[in-house]
Amino acid sequence: MSEPLLPPIGMLAELTHRCPLQCPYCSNPTELLKANRELDTQSWLDLFDQAADLGVLQVHLSGGEPTLRRDLEQMVAGLSARGVYTNLITAGVGIAEGRIRALAEAGLDHVQLSIQGARAATTERIGHYRGGHEKKLETARRVRVAGLPLTINAPIHRHNIEEVPEFIELALSLGAERLEIANVQYSGWALVNRDALMPDRASVERQIEVVAQAQERLRGIMNIDFVTPDYFATYPKPCMGGWARDAFMVAPDGTVLPCHAAHTIRTLTFERFGERSLADIWTNSPAFNAFRGTDWMQEPCRSCERREIDWGGCRCQAMAIAGDPAATDPACIKSPIHARMGMLVADAMAAAKAETAGNATAEPFVYRRITTVSEPAS
Ligand code: SF4
Ligand code: FES
Repeated sequence: MSEPLLPPIGMLAELTHRCPLQCPYCSNPTELLKANRELDTQSWLDLFDQAADLGVLQVHLSGGEPTLRRDLEQMVAGLSARGVYTNLITAGVGIAEGRIRALAEAGLDHVQLSIQGARAATTERIGHYRGGHEKKLETARRVRVAGLPLTINAPIHRHNIEEVPEFIELALSLGAERLEIANVQYSGWALVNRDALMPDRASVERQIEVVAQAQERLRGIMNIDFVTPDYFATYPKPCMGGWARDAFMVAPDGTVLPCHAAHTIRTLTFERFGERSLADIWTNSPAFNAFRGTDWMQEPCRSCERREIDWGGCRCQAMAIAGDPAATDPACIKSPIHARMGMLVADAMAAAKAETAGNATAEPFVYRRITTVSEPAS
């Protein structure tokens, strides 16, 4: 039975794909858009107005690196004037002195800062940016001086999973209210780099224990959110809270998508803001309606008691691994191809072993860059 269509609550605005960092775990598409494809200031302001009219309460300003948009203060001010909560998702390098304060004055509500390693060498290696760690710490301090709440986002994979205890101490020392220990989701560049990024099971289990203990110890001091690693899970996550259920995203060129990897589902067509209104896209777009609710589900999801808990998991992961966006997310133990997740982990471990045995000196990653790289077939 379909539930009535409600207005969206959240919107992720990818203002640009440009970024000074080149993280191999980036969830941006492998075909990154250049600056000349980005919406102009007025189009973003119109889009934000329509989002507020539609009922959106929170906008996450992301990228790429959103502070590369010189009109960011204008966007924050526009959203703030409409009473929309704004969260800046930044890599925290190359931000000019005074910019964080200016954004706070424009009405910014919150900053989420990503840090690639608890150690400087890890941050620099993963982000492929010398001196990046110090710059990030300085950005964190400026956020706190500006009186803004701070979340530290730590994307976790094989090359930093042992640093989780240090991430916790680092976030505390920076005065963060929240730390996200976010195991990498394998889409976009992360899917290209899956073998190089996949952790082993023992490290994942140690990490789960460390996080659980810290959550207990730091209750009331700092919240720790844990984004579980799908490839080691029993049940999938409710990706995006369910397809086109209460949130959506907009790409730098104004393409409106139910999630950041939806473009990998080639059978769907996504509309651009300007050609149609946001309300029309949210309500009537065939792509948004394709996996809404539960009517589209096949077995085992169709008759599963969890179907309105996880909404069948992630459509893009089903596409990437099962080759069918309407399949049960293979992260689910009930999926007929759940064992494939374990096999992909085993493949990644074999690749890691071969790399160590060969004493590889070159980085195992394909660093994110603005060019075309094809995503691997699973
Ligand atoms: Fe979720 Fe489908 Fe698995 Fe049930 S079968 S737990 S609805 S993914
Ligand atoms: Fe698209 Fe999960 S990333 S539904």
